[in-house]
Amino acid sequence: MKFLVMNGVNLNLTGKREKSVYGTQTLDDINEKIATYCAKKGDEVDFYQSNIEGELVNKIHEAFLNKSYDAILFNAGAFTHYSYALRDAIAAIDIPVAEVHISNVHAREEFRNKSVLSEVCVGVVCGFGIGSYFAAIEGLRCKLQ
Ligand code: DQA
Repeated sequence: MKFLVMNGVNLNLTGKREKSVYGTQTLDDINEKIATYCAKKGDEVDFYQSNIEGELVNKIHEAFLNKSYDAILFNAGAFTHYSYALRDAIAAIDIPVAEVHISNVHAREEFRNKSVLSEVCVGVVCGFGIGSYFAAIEGLRCKLQ
């Protein structure tokens, strides 16, 4: 299978910001671990991060139009809670998207309890640290096989 792992706003600072919430591993560390995990399973994986909503929309369109991935993992960061543009982009494509969060968004501030993306994603994983990405890969694999 071929996965695209997308990270949105502020996720480039993972490992450097709010370490008690998001841990000490950088996004490069996390991506390297995901790449190793996928390689062991015989899967391919690409990575994309942007702080810009429109660039994330463009990447979702590109993945759809080029038919380049079997599934997408998406940690949209704070965009999760209010971006109808990203929601519509996910709704527009036929590639399954898993919503991923490092932290347990339901155990934090009230504004994080609401995701405008969940309804158009095939599943949601949150609260397992970087394990959320691995759980999402396995969830997507179950859905697709
Ligand atoms: C996050 C949770 C969001 O609420 C927050 O804005 C983030 C990271 C997570 O991975 O836990 O930036 O998506």
